[in-house]
Amino acid sequence: MPHLTRRPAVRLALLLGVSAGLFAPLAFAQNDPGSLMPEGPGRAETIAVCGGCHGSAMTSRRSDRVWDSLWSTMLAHGMERPSAEIKEIVMTYLKTYLSTEREPPAPQAPAPM
Ligand code: HEC
Repeated sequence: MPHLTRRPAVRLALLLGVSAGLFAPLAFAQNDPGSLMPEGPGRAETIAVCGGCHGSAMTSRRSDRVWDSLWSTMLAHGMERPSAEIKEIVMTYLKTYLSTEREPPAPQAPAPM
């Protein structure tokens, strides 16, 4: 795939994204003190992909359409492009647990000890 050559505009966006990213966790922490992302399949992957910039305080809900478009916004902010498989897991998590369009499923009972 010919995506290895980066255009200067992409590099600039990356740079801006990384420096702006330093402030994003603060903003999220202030809006959402102490809250954590809901438990569910894909949570760990979502924190791995998004948490570098957002921590685990990313709890506000959005519509499917907004999540889809945020994906490319985050790439423009400098998010490393995950594999298609990971993207699917993360998008499914966001659209299941942080959706304005549907209620998340009830949390699963913890496995018996
Ligand atoms: C490289 C750093 C970086 C990564 C990785 C990243 N983001 Fe962001 N994100 C940002 C920055 C910077 C902003 C703040 C700028 C803004 O508000 O538009 C932001 C803003 C947001 C916002 C608020 C935007 C709005 O307009 O309401 C959401 C929601 C969000 N990110 C979700 C995610 C999700 C979900 C992922 C993982 C799929 C992710 N981010 C990965 C840097 C990142």
